[in-house]
Amino acid sequence: MEDQAQALRELMNSSKPAPKAPERPGVQSGPERKTRIIAVTSGKGGVGKTNVSVNLAIAYAKIGKKVIVMDADLGLANVNIMLNVIPKHNLYHVIRKQKTMRDIIYDTDYGIQIVAGASGFSKIANLSEDERQSFIDELYALSQADIVIIDTSAGVSSNVLSFVAAADEAIIVTTPEPTAITDAYGIIKIIATEVENLNIGLKLVVNRAKTVIEGRKVADRIIEISANFLNLKVEYLGCIFDDPVVPQAVLRQKPFIVSDPKSKAAISIQHLVGRLEKTEFEADAGLGRFIRKLFGKE
Ligand SMILES: Nc1ncnc2c1ncn2[C@@H]1O[C@H](COP(=O)(O)OP(=O)(O)O)[C@@H](O)[C@H]1O
Ligand SMILES: [Mg+2]
Repeated sequence: MEDQAQALRELMNSSKPAPKAPERPGVQSGPERKTRIIAVTSGKGGVGKTNVSVNLAIAYAKIGKKVIVMDADLGLANVNIMLNVIPKHNLYHVIRKQKTMRDIIYDTDYGIQIVAGASGFSKIANLSEDERQSFIDELYALSQADIVIIDTSAGVSSNVLSFVAAADEAIIVTTPEPTAITDAYGIIKIIATEVENLNIGLKLVVNRAKTVIEGRKVADRIIEISANFLNLKVEYLGCIFDDPVVPQAVLRQKPFIVSDPKSKAAISIQHLVGRLEKTEFEADAGLGRFIRKLFGKE
């Protein structure tokens, strides 16, 4: 523990030049491509997960993908508020069998659909066998989407870990703040130690970067310490610039990628999509595996 903390401190103060990111071959998306599940998470709260989830989803929709954002930040109806919509029904109603998943998938004006979370949906592990089975059946309704983005809450809970473990990829969001960096490493460490058969891609996004160099430096510290202490490969997806349009858009309840498509923040998001599209997506991954893993059957 001690040497790890020390190493992290050293890394935080290091000013080594950034090594080049390894290039991965692009993968063509064919008509048979399965649903890609991306969990967005962080160590510290308030670092930009919901903004990343929603704006990334809209950017994907703009290039013709069918995207569903699932709000798994239970208790806080973040996604709804950011889009200024009030779905009447949520995952709670699906689990209670009052609604089907199809009933609750909510169309927005932005070309994406959302699934609202539920505070009653507090522990996937605590569902009865009957509820669990019907929920599993309902989850398959999400296969109509090309991409499902899951906006999780910050930090460790069995739910966050379940979603992260089950996804094809987890995007860890951090900011350049030292506390956000240490917490990002913290959540990566917990994912690495708690998740069995970890075979998902861990991707890092540095939000609120002042410069590309700052983003890269923050990412390198986290990537290096994850490699050294956890033997874990974390890939840098890119940064999102700190941009006043973001809080303005949140206040107006209209995503910045729509209200300010030429802003630095919006362009950053488009770059992230470009990079995500270049990364491999295993053919045997997708919704079926997601559901099996979410319920610990794999
Ligand atoms: N790139 C950015 N530039 C400026 N402010 C940002 C940026 N990203 C996030 N913020 C600020 O941080 C707040 C929290 O973002 P949010 O997406 O709700 O975080 P989380 O979902 O991680 O709690 C936003 O309301 C906004 O004020
Ligand atoms: Mg949020």
